[in-house]
Amino acid sequence: MKKVRVKIPASTTNLGPGFDCLGLALKLYNIIEIEEIRKDKVGIEIEGEGKNDIPQNEKNIIFPAIKRVFDKAGKKISRIKIRQINNIPPGKGLGSSAATRIGGIVCASNFLGMNLSREEILKLAASLEGHPDNAAASLLGGLVIVIPQKENFRWIKIDLPPELKVIIALPEIRIPTQKAREILPQNFSLEDIVFNLSRMGTLIYSLVKGEWEYLMLATEDKLHQKYRETLLPGMREAIESALKSGAKGAFLSGAGSGIVALAENKEEKIGKSMQKAFLKRGITSKIMTLRIDREGLKILK
Ligand code: HSE
Repeated sequence: MKKVRVKIPASTTNLGPGFDCLGLALKLYNIIEIEEIRKDKVGIEIEGEGKNDIPQNEKNIIFPAIKRVFDKAGKKISRIKIRQINNIPPGKGLGSSAATRIGGIVCASNFLGMNLSREEILKLAASLEGHPDNAAASLLGGLVIVIPQKENFRWIKIDLPPELKVIIALPEIRIPTQKAREILPQNFSLEDIVFNLSRMGTLIYSLVKGEWEYLMLATEDKLHQKYRETLLPGMREAIESALKSGAKGAFLSGAGSGIVALAENKEEKIGKSMQKAFLKRGITSKIMTLRIDREGLKILK
């Protein structure tokens, strides 16, 4: 019986000023498998993160992702078992839903022998996600600038210097992305837009050149973080304490709740300082230090 297995990296997005257009892939992976079965049904099995709360039926976000590919192929979705082995914690700003969707799409496309291009895969994932940044980083690896162009997306992939470590505080609070997007205003002052544009340019310069001294300034933001702070007490303090402890830059990971600090060293000190900042607000958190994934999604043999 036919079987396809893919490995998808986690991602952190926005990196401060790059709302919805910057994504960075991380070495923490989910695995998705589609296997042909004899019974006329769709089975879903989940292991690892979310095992007890992600629905193992058609309400699982992987279902519409896979169904869209079957629809494109003109096939009825049936006689398959979907297996998800999750290491990316959901609701923490590490792109778990994008990994699920992009993994489901690529797995189904391969399973059906379709040759969906990376552009088509990203377009499909972004339409399901409502934003393209996590999906682009998970699909392509590295640091990705996503460029929306009419109905499609273009991108630039940047290889970052390998010494950069990504330290993440994962507070016990889960933030649904939809809620964290609804809280944002629809209009911004020109002053705030200019603030972010200047940081975005500086951020790309600093990352490409490895000139870390600009990162603290470059990861500042005025378009989303301050609004999201209402959903995450301790966010600002965690960012500030990471910077004081030696992080080169720090920001809310995607829509949260994770906080990311970028550093060359002092990982332990930085991690502990973020933990302490959240604890002052009565919130416990876990710390992870991850490296950057450069390859993006991989089809496993
Ligand atoms: N760019 C998206 C946001 C990422 O900030 O809402 C969500 O994971």
